[in-house]
Amino acid sequence: MRSWPHKHIISLANFSKEDYEQLLTLADKFNSNKENRIKKIPFLEGYLVTSLFFEASTRTRNSFELAAKRLSAEVQTFNSTSSSMSKGETDIDTALTYASMGSNIIIIRHSSSNGPLKIAQKIDHKKITTSIINAGDGLNGHPSQGLLDLYTLINFFSPNKINPSVLNSKNILIVGDVLHSRVARSNILALSAFGANITLCGPEELVPYEMKNFINSTYLNQLKDPIKNRGGIRISRSLQKSISNTDAIIILRLQKERMNQNYLDCLNSYSTYYCLTLDKLKLNKKELPVLHPGPVNRDIEISSKVVDEYKNCLINKQIKNGIAIRMAMLFLTSQYQDLIQSNFNPSVKKP
Ligand code: CP
Repeated sequence: MRSWPHKHIISLANFSKEDYEQLLTLADKFNSNKENRIKKIPFLEGYLVTSLFFEASTRTRNSFELAAKRLSAEVQTFNSTSSSMSKGETDIDTALTYASMGSNIIIIRHSSSNGPLKIAQKIDHKKITTSIINAGDGLNGHPSQGLLDLYTLINFFSPNKINPSVLNSKNILIVGDVLHSRVARSNILALSAFGANITLCGPEELVPYEMKNFINSTYLNQLKDPIKNRGGIRISRSLQKSISNTDAIIILRLQKERMNQNYLDCLNSYSTYYCLTLDKLKLNKKELPVLHPGPVNRDIEISSKVVDEYKNCLINKQIKNGIAIRMAMLFLTSQYQDLIQSNFNPSVKKP
């Protein structure tokens, strides 16, 4: 098996095609467990995994914890309301406390863009072996969501075999609050890596024209984009027009908690133009797959009928796939740690 090259998973910006393929293939193996009762797998036996969520979460937190438990890790959960942060302890010192308790992998959700990166840099500076996985940071990125959406779409278009090249030249429409969405940023990186063309659709307040240059701006201060021949990004203001020419739709949540009153006033008519309804879906002859990362604002960005009645609404599949993707992320991260600590035992750990 190829050695996993990343100590931390902070962003998809440094993922190569081989990284994506290795992770997706492994996730697919974890996902193929069809039995009703799920047996634990001993790959993370002896590992301590900590979920350190400074922001609310239902899906990401619980599926990471479930993924760690299914791999037989010990799981430790941080509770923000009863923690010593109420006495003034910083986020970095909180993370270092868990690292000192022996946590091998800390999964961090943070309200600040680059919050998990800063913690990972501190950990590396102190030569601590703990790995950090970003579970969503500010407006920056949500790698596990990007990966599970990538997996869900590949699985839709190529159900019998994980074949990422099936996305080449597909048109993917991402609709809504792109400006405040870390999910959109990770989706763009993951989907364009396999040649999908992305259309970002929404009003100017939520889809600024500059988002067209998102990929170039991502690599402005970094060494090099590991992906050659990415798909492109277009901007659209009309959902009705764009829908006829797309192969898949990702609807984003309106992130009201990150908006000021001016934004909300501008968005009074949002649902009329941008809420995905069954009528709008009929503008495309195909039965398009529809994704939404959750949580859903019903009848604001997506109608209840699409969520509950539309055959190819894949929200439940996304949630299920999220567990397998996060198992793969945890396993590969643990494999990196085993390698650097020179006690890797492939006979035990190979899936
Ligand atoms: N998609 C997502 O990040 O959901 P949660 O906020 O519930 O984790």
